[in-house]
Amino acid sequence: MRSQLRLHVLFSAILSITSTAAIDPSNSLVLTPGQIASIPTWDLQSSTKAGKDLETLSRPGVDTSGWIHVNASKCTLMGCLLEAGTYNDTELFYSDNLRKVDSKQFEVPWLYRHEFGLDPEAGKYFHLITHGITSRADVYLNGKEVADKKTQAGGYGGHTYDITDLVGQKNALLIQAHPTSYYYDFALGWVDWNPWPADNGTGVWRDVEVKQTGSVALGPLRVVTQLGTPLESSPANVTLRSRARNLEKAAVTITVAGTISPERYPGPPITWSQIVTLPPLSTTDLSVFVSNNTISDFASATFGFRTVTSKLNSYNDTTFYVNAKPFQVLGAGYAPDMFLRFNPSKFESEAQYVLDLGFNTIRLEGKNEHPELYEIADRRGIMILAGWECCDKWEAWSYNQDLAVPTPVWNEEDYGIANASMFHEAGMLQTHPSVLGYLIGSDYWPDEKASPMYMNALQSQDWQTPVLASASRRGFPAFMGSPGLKMEGPYDWVPPNYWYDIEPSASRLGAAFGFGSELGAGVGTPDLSSLKKFLSPADLNDLWKNPNKNLFHMSTETSSFHNRKIYNDGLWKRWGAPTSLEDYVQKTQITDYEATRAQFEAYAANWNSKRPATGLIYWMLTGAFPSLHWSIWDYYMHPAGAYFGAKVGSRIEHVAYDYVKKSVFLINRSLDKEGARSVEIQVVDTTGKTLLSNTVKTTTKPNTSKEITSLSSALKNIKDVVFVRLVLSDPSSKDTQVLSRNVYWLSKTIDTLDWDNSDWFYTPVTKYSDYTALNKLAAANVSLAARSRGHGPKGHSESAMQVTLENHSSVPAFFIRLNLVDKDGKDVLPVTWDDNYLTLWPREKITVKVRPFGGAAEPAVVQVVGKNVKGSTVSIAYSLGDSYP
Ligand SMILES: *[C@@H]1O[C@H](CO)[C@@H](O)[C@H](O)[C@H]1NC(C)=O
Ligand SMILES: *[C@@H]1O[C@H](CO)[C@@H](O)[C@H](O)[C@H]1NC(C)=O
Ligand SMILES: *[C@@H]1O[C@H](CO)[C@@H](O)[C@H](O)[C@H]1NC(C)=O
Ligand SMILES: *[C@@H]1O[C@H](CO)[C@@H](O)[C@H](O)[C@H]1NC(C)=O
Ligand SMILES: *[C@@H]1O[C@H](CO)[C@@H](O)[C@H](O)[C@H]1NC(C)=O
Ligand SMILES: *[C@@H]1O[C@H](CO)[C@@H](O)[C@H](O)[C@H]1NC(C)=O
Ligand SMILES: *[C@@H]1O[C@H](CO)[C@@H](O)[C@H](O)[C@H]1NC(C)=O
Ligand SMILES: *[C@@H]1O[C@H](CO)[C@@H](O)[C@H](O)[C@H]1NC(C)=O
Ligand SMILES: *[C@@H]1O[C@H](CO)[C@@H](O)[C@H](O)[C@H]1NC(C)=O
Repeated sequence: MRSQLRLHVLFSAILSITSTAAIDPSNSLVLTPGQIASIPTWDLQSSTKAGKDLETLSRPGVDTSGWIHVNASKCTLMGCLLEAGTYNDTELFYSDNLRKVDSKQFEVPWLYRHEFGLDPEAGKYFHLITHGITSRADVYLNGKEVADKKTQAGGYGGHTYDITDLVGQKNALLIQAHPTSYYYDFALGWVDWNPWPADNGTGVWRDVEVKQTGSVALGPLRVVTQLGTPLESSPANVTLRSRARNLEKAAVTITVAGTISPERYPGPPITWSQIVTLPPLSTTDLSVFVSNNTISDFASATFGFRTVTSKLNSYNDTTFYVNAKPFQVLGAGYAPDMFLRFNPSKFESEAQYVLDLGFNTIRLEGKNEHPELYEIADRRGIMILAGWECCDKWEAWSYNQDLAVPTPVWNEEDYGIANASMFHEAGMLQTHPSVLGYLIGSDYWPDEKASPMYMNALQSQDWQTPVLASASRRGFPAFMGSPGLKMEGPYDWVPPNYWYDIEPSASRLGAAFGFGSELGAGVGTPDLSSLKKFLSPADLNDLWKNPNKNLFHMSTETSSFHNRKIYNDGLWKRWGAPTSLEDYVQKTQITDYEATRAQFEAYAANWNSKRPATGLIYWMLTGAFPSLHWSIWDYYMHPAGAYFGAKVGSRIEHVAYDYVKKSVFLINRSLDKEGARSVEIQVVDTTGKTLLSNTVKTTTKPNTSKEITSLSSALKNIKDVVFVRLVLSDPSSKDTQVLSRNVYWLSKTIDTLDWDNSDWFYTPVTKYSDYTALNKLAAANVSLAARSRGHGPKGHSESAMQVTLENHSSVPAFFIRLNLVDKDGKDVLPVTWDDNYLTLWPREKITVKVRPFGGAAEPAVVQVVGKNVKGSTVSIAYSLGDSYP
């Protein structure tokens, strides 16, 4: 839970070492000892055009005017070609255009080349640093080979090469990237997530850096913290460590100086220093600190104080503990862009969505991205569960039953690549307080040789958070023990009661107990405005007219998720056949909302039940391309039904309905909110007639969930469908503050699950609940007003606006969607809404806040439409002052 994290106090640590060398200002890429610069741009060419003479091509002065010029420091081949304008993603993502990209062109090596200046002289040392090049690379500088493809191997194989003897005033770096197979190479694969990029992610997807040092060079900084208890008032020990390498053929005496300065906190930094003598060409781990001459090198990082541990409970389910307090993991699985284009400001917006949703964790499955991702998570207070990926070379074990093709099991060289990858990633992640743990396997655990190898690599980097063998219960290396995470689906549609149907004696798979490492009802249908961006008119027709058809914008062709059959079966049976595209999309949003709400509510409701629900990673957070499923928001950052269902279901203080017990749960995920609470419960039928009106007085305790009342008798004699409204408020607060308002639509019977015939990806439904009565609701008359503070429309997109809705009818106004658009009618994104997809009680009036952010366009109009509310728009009234007009 958000409030359990104390990541806000961040510290910067700098370890610097000094020895003799003079600062020499010049036009070189790097100027001073300790300075690191990324290769800023690339010239790119296929080896079929540039030829194979790498020695010649890597000498300064080669004419590359006919090459492709890429203004990016890092990109896969497809990412580079998109950046250079050879391809256009608006066009590629439309319909099935991605199929038309020629993949043959990527079956040969490609060359990345860049020329740069340096100012070499005695006492200066230069290093070339890689952080992974997919799948393998030959690296040449100034006509000489720096590393061959045996060494520079793997998408995460990061290495530092001493290039001091090769550099001159003018330098040319040439990297030959070899084609990637997901089965033979350690790459970043996509399994069934989405169509595979034509280049299989080949290329310089992470920065390549040049670093200058004096005669002693440092590796990445590690920070080891020892915390006392209680945390807030006990002294902590901090050790700064880095590996120092003496590059001279003689002993060097250095002074090591450490500095720690709290961010945004007054007071002097903590500094200390120590003198050490390094034998010739030696490598030493420094946990102390170097001479008052010029700096030789420095390593710096931002870190924070927290502890993370994990423990198996009596059911062998894992619970994480942050700062010794049990931490219920609530989050989702991340997908990067399918061409691995990482945009920090986009991730900032995504992080804001994660917090707006009430999630506390993001899982990365083999997509460890870049240091910026962790920096953003550190500052925002989001935990990251990082790890390796499934279903390809990374899990090519003899006992893996699920590999799509017979992938060769690891040979000696493979262990070496994986080993170097683990060293590198551990070094990159070690200081980040956002890191919750590392999963060294996903679907399968690493074998008896790889597991200790990974552990050693992590430990050598002073790893301090839990390391788990996999994200499933399929097995584990004896010395590590069970990871305590389950991966038993679902991945496709299941009804809301699935999550509450907990029966210890029977097989219940993904229901809300234990730690589900990847599970969800397979929802996340984009809203119509987004669908029109990537689907052709024929594709849009297929959506609602051909419910079983295979669709390109789902999972891969060979997967179980290439069509929406299971999802649509439920939608057709429960809601009736769609009458138009608009009707279909509206029914998908109801379905998606109900699915994510139930999943997050059930996990929160069962946090302290007999067999606790210790964690939930929704499958997934985002899509790597415009996808029709498996995401909380869509590729264009538009939040729709799945988003607002998840958001309601993840509220810190909340009141939820258990579909199986027919009871009301009071959920409290806070650590400090307690006292008297009241829960108002009302049931109305489809005509608006009140069937139950009741207020339950209770008290709430932090960090608990409890059943407060049963609705069984009230719901016994339903005619067709009823609405249930639960309102949680704090009677002691001003105006009896509403903490949570939650409306359900319930049919006479719940969906019947056929648990015995469950498959790994879903549990079939044998009898569906019937919501078709809601297609015949009498129309509700809802009025709308939208107001914004500020001095007029321009430049005020980030200030909060209020939208007030009032139902003037005697029937409920069901599932009202609000959408913010600019003057051209385009979605204003990203945007957060207090609440959306609202169901209003007869005569009810509600005000919600909406806040565009992160460079969103200027909002002009709010669009409104509901199941029984006619579509309309209202212009936003801007005030001239600080209050709302
Ligand atoms: C290259 O990219 C940088 C950084 O994004 C930008 O400032 C610069 O204008 C770009 N140059 C060209 C020629 O597009
Ligand atoms: C990509 O194509 C779209 C649609 O054809 C066009 O509107 C857009 O400007 C193009 N983008 C670039 C970067 O050329
Ligand atoms: C991408 O990987 C797949 C699976 O290994 C392989 O069949 C395909 O040939 C690869 N594509 C390229 C362009 O290398
Ligand atoms: C800090 O280090 C000192 C000296 O080694 C030790 O006595 C103390 O217990 C440590 N504090 C914590 C919180 O581990
Ligand atoms: C270090 O600095 C002190 C005082 O500035 C100076 O006396 C001493 O010679 C310096 N040491 C070296 C090795 O330069
Ligand atoms: C937990 O795991 C241990 C070790 O694998 C096993 O002996 C024990 O029976 C398990 N307990 C339960 C409740 O499954
Ligand atoms: C992994 O790398 C470390 C450090 O280079 C080495 O000591 C160890 O033997 C390697 N393990 C394997 C299995 O390759
Ligand atoms: C949640 O727990 C906190 C901490 O005990 C408490 O202050 C708050 O009132 C509780 N809220 C509810 C709804 O139980
Ligand atoms: C939160 O609840 C868990 C499970 O009931 C309990 O073990 C833990 O001590 C509680 N934490 C706090 C801070 O109350």
